[in-house]
Amino acid sequence: MFDLIVTDATLPDGRTGQDIAVRDGRIVTVGPGLAAGAEAGARLDAGGLLVTPPFVDAHFHMDATLSLGLPRLNHSGTLLEGIALWGELKPLLTVEALVERGLRYCDLAVSRGLLAIRSHVDVSDPRLVTVEAMLELRRQVAPWIDLQLVAFPQDGYFRAPGAAEALERALDMGVDVVGGIPHFERTMADGAASVASLCRIAAERGLRVDLHCDETDDPLSRHVETLAAETIRHGLQGRVAGSHLTSMHSMDNYYVSKLIPLMAEAGLHAVANPLINITLQGRHDTYPKRRGQTRVPELMAAGVNVAFGHDCVMDPWYSLGSGDMLEVASMGLHVGQMTSRDAMRACFDAVTVNAAAVMGLEGYGLAPGCRADMVLLQAADPIEAIRLRATRLAVVRGGKVVSRAEPARSALSLPGRPALVDPADYAPPALRAPMP
Ligand code: FE2
Repeated sequence: MFDLIVTDATLPDGRTGQDIAVRDGRIVTVGPGLAAGAEAGARLDAGGLLVTPPFVDAHFHMDATLSLGLPRLNHSGTLLEGIALWGELKPLLTVEALVERGLRYCDLAVSRGLLAIRSHVDVSDPRLVTVEAMLELRRQVAPWIDLQLVAFPQDGYFRAPGAAEALERALDMGVDVVGGIPHFERTMADGAASVASLCRIAAERGLRVDLHCDETDDPLSRHVETLAAETIRHGLQGRVAGSHLTSMHSMDNYYVSKLIPLMAEAGLHAVANPLINITLQGRHDTYPKRRGQTRVPELMAAGVNVAFGHDCVMDPWYSLGSGDMLEVASMGLHVGQMTSRDAMRACFDAVTVNAAAVMGLEGYGLAPGCRADMVLLQAADPIEAIRLRATRLAVVRGGKVVSRAEPARSALSLPGRPALVDPADYAPPALRAPMP
């Protein structure tokens, strides 16, 4: 007796006609023909469509989300005005308002099949209202979202008075990951020193590290090199992420030919934030304007695990967004010119399995023994899912359906033409065959 059987699923790796049997919140077996004769408390017919592990956002700011317009709008649209605006809002924040906004965003996230989020939490305000609120939010949403928190000294670990002490207090309170922002310290030397201090703290406490790192257009910003070296020095391989890394877009190619192998040696994770990078970077350029996204295909080719994050939704830095990681994957694909079939599939991985690796999620995937978390999409495969921003027909958490949506279809009123348009029906037939 199973709790749930998902029937006739196509998996992200291309296997079709798969049944997925679930018991006690875990996947028990995956394979063709399991459903026949098996007893199950519930059934979900995938109808040959794509079933994927849930979307994972490796980089987000839950404490700022849905605060757009408070206390005013970002008129220049720059990163620095966003930071200044957030500074104006901070004294006005309350635990109740932060939790309420976070809960609203998590509703949206679940409806989008986004069931794991790593959120940076600003620890620059010594009241730590943000930390208190995000810990409460993490507790409340735990049944349906894995919310991992990063202690993030937005105003600088050394630059902001009291930030170093506040960061340690946040970790004492239960924040999961050590954060930082070396490029925002007063000098390159202070930035490098902050990387060393933060890696030491993580090593001593047995925690992971995720730094906002080199989020500038400065080709000489070098903090990711320091981050890789400190990762090796402290034996933190596989536990450290560099977020944004936008300066790598502008770096000298010879230098990068040395840097990327160092990052691979250190087992660094790289997290690009395509929607934000493409809108915030290159602001000092006239034309040509740099894109500012880090070197995603080159990092992937070198064996570095690369994930895409949403970073912001309707906050001081970004007024758009809807918790849709397929929109994030689509932007990353376009900005990185990742248009081969393999590269497009890699962009889907960047918002699923690669992001789960950044967070170190236990039991992520669709193999037997994994947690029974999955999403049924109105698409035949990961590439079509990105192309269509496919509707999440069902979202499953711990073996239970927690969100459902009707298929996206339009009724046509055109003489001699079909009555219904289903966007998933319009792929050229050649795409249904295996492609080189
Ligand atoms: Fe960020």
